[in-house]
Amino acid sequence: MRGMPETLFVGLSELLTMDASLARSGATAVQDAGERALGLLRDAAVLAGDDGRVAWVGAASDAPRRPGQRVVDLQGAVVLPGLVDAHTHLVYAGDRTQDFAARCAGESYEAVAARGGGIRLTVRATRAASRDELVELARPRLLDLVAHGVTTVEIKSGYGLTVADELKCLEVARRLADEGLARIVPTVLGAHIVPDEFKGDRGAYVRLVTDELLPEAARLRLARHVDVFCETGAFSLDETLRILDRGRELGFGLKVHAEQLTRTGAAAAAARLGAVSADHLERAEDEDIAAMAEHGTVAVLLPGAAVFLGARDRAPARRLLDAGVPVALSTDCNPGTCPSRHLPLMATLGCVYLGLAPHEALLGITRHAARALGLTDGTGTLAPGAPCDLAVCEAPGWRHIPYLMGHNPVRETWVAARQVHARATTRAGL
Ligand code: NIG
Ligand code: FE
Repeated sequence: MRGMPETLFVGLSELLTMDASLARSGATAVQDAGERALGLLRDAAVLAGDDGRVAWVGAASDAPRRPGQRVVDLQGAVVLPGLVDAHTHLVYAGDRTQDFAARCAGESYEAVAARGGGIRLTVRATRAASRDELVELARPRLLDLVAHGVTTVEIKSGYGLTVADELKCLEVARRLADEGLARIVPTVLGAHIVPDEFKGDRGAYVRLVTDELLPEAARLRLARHVDVFCETGAFSLDETLRILDRGRELGFGLKVHAEQLTRTGAAAAAARLGAVSADHLERAEDEDIAAMAEHGTVAVLLPGAAVFLGARDRAPARRLLDAGVPVALSTDCNPGTCPSRHLPLMATLGCVYLGLAPHEALLGITRHAARALGLTDGTGTLAPGAPCDLAVCEAPGWRHIPYLMGHNPVRETWVAARQVHARATTRAGL
């Protein structure tokens, strides 16, 4: 990225650095505990170095001005670090609107899946699609995320379920990464469900994942994490642990879909294996939470999926935070349980549906989400050294971002101090 001039962003009415140590005294002092946690600076400026990273943040009046500098006036915007969506299934083909209609008529997600709908339907269409077709299908979804301020996106495979089709989906994620619209963190989810052709021999499919898919994904460096859907109708706890164990041996970070529809104990067991995150958690209990706290496992909550499924249980967001577990909020963008690419809406749902405070929800789509991806370079913050990725929002103040339910506050998105999205028209009526 070197080679561009340093860039000074000015005209930030509020800058949420997501680093409490930056909520300084003096002209920009904040009293409110939430604002301190957000590392809020008012009337601020951000300097990006020629490497696309934050070189300095502070009060606009103290901004270092140098000849040859590019100056960008953000005209009173509220600025957050580029948002981080830590859980998506963006690469898929096919249509699930019939499933949706059946569920609107009262059929359960499990019942639809058991009669051949659900993930299986998407697997069939995804296997039939070429790499090029999948790139064309996934790109607009990614652009939609970017238009909602997202600059770092986890993308899972999981709708291929053969070695070749899983690698194909991961290669699609790599192609999207190469296009440079956002930073992509790929995850291999070969263990999404047992595909039909292995119905009579589940063990053989688990071995395909552990002995062929994971080593090949590692050799080709196509994924950073391995994930397993531990659920009735998907993988048992024992199968899950076999796959995660092998993933760990191969050097992958570990993630798990856990305690969503039934409680399996996968969150605690994965935490003990060193998982970076356990995701969903609607059915998590205190001992699961305690294990996650002890092992530093991040909770990735997916309220869009819970609402879309009409789930009875709500993830224990408050108990997780009280126990010291960082809580991230993600879209889960997938064709079955949450087609939304609106990450700010997930912050709203984090507040109104899961009981988070507005500042906790914003930390959940930035700093804590980056942690759920094992990113330790400052992603999800705007502290000096962090990537200069920005979600530039039009709002009277930062609380309006989760408050204005369903409104997209994002006017511009920047990756490494390079603009990747600008809204065509400005919107009134905040
Ligand atoms: O995260 N849990 C498994 N995977 C998705 C659902 C995928 C689908 O229905 O296609 C989820 O909710
Ligand atoms: Fe998921």
